[in-house]
Amino acid sequence: MATLRLRNLGIGFRMGLTGLLITMLIGYAASGLHLYWHYEPRDGRPGLSINDIRSAYRGIDSPSILAESLRGGHPETLSDVDRQALLDWLASGRVSENYDSLDLGDDAPAEIIAMSCLSCHSRSAPASERDAGAMPLEYWNDVSKIAFAVKIEPVPLRIVAISTHTHALAMAPLTLVIGVMAFATIFPRRFVAGVFAVAGLALAADISSWWLARLGDIWVYVIVIGGMLYFIASVLMILMSLVELWRPFGPRNSPREAISS
Ligand code: HEC
Repeated sequence: MATLRLRNLGIGFRMGLTGLLITMLIGYAASGLHLYWHYEPRDGRPGLSINDIRSAYRGIDSPSILAESLRGGHPETLSDVDRQALLDWLASGRVSENYDSLDLGDDAPAEIIAMSCLSCHSRSAPASERDAGAMPLEYWNDVSKIAFAVKIEPVPLRIVAISTHTHALAMAPLTLVIGVMAFATIFPRRFVAGVFAVAGLALAADISSWWLARLGDIWVYVIVIGGMLYFIASVLMILMSLVELWRPFGPRNSPREAISS
């Protein structure tokens, strides 16, 4: 079987294809940007992390780290009275208001923390005390990060369905077109086949995990890894086609030959 190569197509056709491929690259870049802007604020912490993705597809329900630690008996040196005072404060619903409330005097959470915690949990604590990963608790800004329970509902399944039907039905044909074009390049068949396989399987893994994430946390990672692999493989195939369209090197036959053989 003769090989059809994009380089052999007429100039007009190649220009058109070039425009379309560039448009696809712009589309992928915009997807990345949209992904960032859409998910970044979800977990309330700056930056895009796996937790943002988790909160969208699975939801997050984690208790207050501070309360868990106190209930677990840490630190052993804390008196029962102070421990209970901190736990009451965390359960009070006035956590930020009462953190350093003057009315509470020495019983204010900020005071208890200063007395009982900062010997280890401060930026200036001796390295030996902070070795085990003790995070600073000097300021409200530090404490507030671990004081609250976090509960974020996942995106409703109705919305996941909307997103799935548009993405699945648009991206599978798009990837097919990109793949067919990549096969019409001078790049080794096996290599192209490998990249194509990754793109197809990664896309299936990514999109099915949007649903599976409700069942288990592992699928949150499959969403991220599948999405990244899909993205890399697709962009690679587009770049191969762009190189092929305008390459000054390598084998070429006349357009007539390419079409008739
Ligand atoms: C003697 C040093 C010391 C004192 C005092 C101390 N801590 Fe810690 N704390 C540590 C170390 C070391 C870690 C990290 C290792 C661990 O999790 O046990 C830690 C971990 C923690 C964690 C994180 C637990 C997690 O699950 O990540 C919290 C919350 C915490 N401390 C709160 C407090 C509070 C509140 C006080 C005061 C009431 C306090 N600590 C007093 C040494 C201390």
